[in-house]
Amino acid sequence: MAPVSAPVCCNQLSTVASYVAPMAQTVLITGANRGLGLAFAKVYAQRGDKVIATVRDVHAAPAELRGMARVLPLEVTDEASIGRLAA
Ligand SMILES: NC(=O)c1ccc[n+]([C@@H]2O[C@H](COP(=O)([O-])OP(=O)(O)OC[C@H]3O[C@@H](n4cnc5c(N)ncnc54)[C@H](OP(=O)(O)O)[C@@H]3O)[C@@H](O)[C@H]2O)c1
Repeated sequence: MAPVSAPVCCNQLSTVASYVAPMAQTVLITGANRGLGLAFAKVYAQRGDKVIATVRDVHAAPAELRGMARVLPLEVTDEASIGRLAA
């Protein structure tokens, strides 16, 4: 299999994003500090959506994420944490 270059990867994420939220204005992304969460935060922010990015440790949020999203704390296994986010 041919190696996947970064631009192809980003195009694939953009395609996935358009299926998941084709006309989104506000997108909530969990686990946005790194990996797929951070990648999707970039995709949605670049297409003009308002991105709410949740992370377990707001102090560990990368500067690039802070620059493109509203960063809020969330531990998805903790109901109290979910309640605080929803409040
Ligand atoms: N990468 C791939 O190509 C791929 C393909 C198919 C499926 N997946 C699946 O997609 C998921 C994400 O993959 P990834 O590569 O982005 O993983 P990753 O780089 O390990 O990142 C996972 C993210 O989830 C957050 N997280 C983990 N446990 C959490 C919890 N209890 N509450 C809130 N946030 C939590 C982490 O937060 P912290 O930064 O605080 O640790 C991190 O930001 C995984 O389940 C993976 O198996 C990945």
